[in-house]
Amino acid sequence: MATERTFSILKPDATKRNITGAVNAVIEKAALRIVGQRRIQMSRAQAETFYEIHKERPFFGELVTFMTSGPVVVQVLEGENAVARYREVMGATNPAQAAEGTIRKTFSESVGENTVHGSDSAENAKIEIAQFFEDGDIVG
Ligand code: CMP
Repeated sequence: MATERTFSILKPDATKRNITGAVNAVIEKAALRIVGQRRIQMSRAQAETFYEIHKERPFFGELVTFMTSGPVVVQVLEGENAVARYREVMGATNPAQAAEGTIRKTFSESVGENTVHGSDSAENAKIEIAQFFEDGDIVG
């Protein structure tokens, strides 16, 4: 399996509770390398563009409001099979359905405030990374 990259967001519930280091420890323990990382305040426009695929969903407004409610940490993770690996490490979108030991099972309080985002495909990872990183900001 080739080394690949995925895009990650540590969401406002993680920065608010000061658990970004604890989440990063789980990421690194899973052999994913944090090769790009920035703490930012997402604008409404950025959040709306990022989650455009969900714009018809009933939770879209709530999602954009939450993602702009405080700082987030955007990351590029690198490793073997990184997209699938990170999805495994995050656990199910709804923490109530997430497996033991996953980030969402350990840290998340609800499906809306579920601590982390990870790309769902290598193709989307490239698109998402390009929304938040310049090539020079990623050092593998
Ligand atoms: P994420 O992986 O960032 O992609 C879309 C997000 O929408 C998802 O994580 C959840 O945080 C959020 N989401 C999905 N379903 C719901 C829901 N039923 N109510 C609120 N937010 C949701």
